Amino acid sequence: MKVDTSNKDRKARKFRRMLWSVALVLGLSMALPLTGMLLTEGPSGQAVAQQAQGGDEAALRARQEQQRRDFWRQARGGVEGYSAVTGPEAGVLIQSGGDVWRSVREGPVKRWGGIILIATVVMLLAFHFIAGAVKLEQRTGRTITRWSLFERVIHWYTAILFIILAITGLSLLFGRTVLIPVIGKEAFAAWAGLAKPIHDWLAVPFAIGLVLMMVPWIKSSLPKAYDLEWIKAGGGYLDKSKHPPAGFVNAGEKIWFWFLFFGGIVLIGSGFFLLFPNLGFERSTMQLALVLHAISGVALIAFSLGHIYLGTLGNEGSLEGMITGEVDEAWAKAHHNVWYDEVKKQGTRPASATAPQGGQPAAT
Ligand code: HEM
Repeated sequence: MKVDTSNKDRKARKFRRMLWSVALVLGLSMALPLTGMLLTEGPSGQAVAQQAQGGDEAALRARQEQQRRDFWRQARGGVEGYSAVTGPEAGVLIQSGGDVWRSVREGPVKRWGGIILIATVVMLLAFHFIAGAVKLEQRTGRTITRWSLFERVIHWYTAILFIILAITGLSLLFGRTVLIPVIGKEAFAAWAGLAKPIHDWLAVPFAIGLVLMMVPWIKSSLPKAYDLEWIKAGGGYLDKSKHPPAGFVNAGEKIWFWFLFFGGIVLIGSGFFLLFPNLGFERSTMQLALVLHAISGVALIAFSLGHIYLGTLGNEGSLEGMITGEVDEAWAKAHHNVWYDEVKKQGTRPASATAPQGGQPAAT
């Protein structure tokens, strides 16, 4: 009986060992993968890390984006940085005034400049075909000296340079809009490459000519009381039977003179900045100079069209005065009666540059 009891005990121990073994195996089979997950950052660990990393990257990207924005905001605000290049504003990467300048030049300057030039040509043509030129009633055959040789040479020298500068300048301002559609890009590029140096090289000779031409004429271009009458009568161009009073130069010519005088100062002054950019001007100065140069240039060209018309087709006898220096007495009486009377009273006169109110009846 004792044997049976020990047999029973042995069986019970064996059964318990087996149970513990199974429990251990099961426990380990559950625990070991968990340790693996801990070592290798298992699926749920990866997701957490990715989430954290994703959040960092987004924040980093936002930070970088903000830095970029701040950088360009400062650059556009004209903040000066460092540059190895020397010179004014060398450290300024972007100057926003350039955008304003471009929109002013491409917008109102070109639009209104074009309108004014076309309107001037249309008005002059309309005037010529409706009102017609002022003809001389009866030539006398006797002439009066009006312009000295110096005055004529300096007038034509300045006028020819002005016309070349006007053609090249208008090509540079309106060429892309007007010439490219007509002659094509390549031909325009070739012409613009020529127009630019011509414009630059003739600027100083023109400025010298303008000063030499205008200074001697200042005195004769000062306003007189009777000029108002000339203006009120529209210079006699609308009612040709009227001959409003005029001295050596009439009120219309005086207006042209002073327009040219002050316009010339702006044109030449602004041109100086453009011709010598290396003298250390800031970009805003150059932009202002470019706009003023274009405006004064277009205004003077428009006015000169009127002057050229009146000096050629508009008034019979004017052009011969500027070519030969002599004008018919009938022309002098009709267009410049005050001057004509003075000449007749004085009987003699030196050249107009030195005594502009006088005149010398020439033997014919
Ligand atoms: C083909 C072009 C031109 C012609 C045919 C022309 C013709 C004339 C004529 C005939 C006169 C004398 C007027 C008179 O005796 O009363 C004159 C004067 C004058 N011209 Fe011209 N001109 C031309 C271009 C220019 C240009 C481009 C300028 C300026 C840059 C200019 C400036 C003057 C000035 C200031 C006077 C003296 C004031 C006056 O009489 O109007 N001319 N011109």
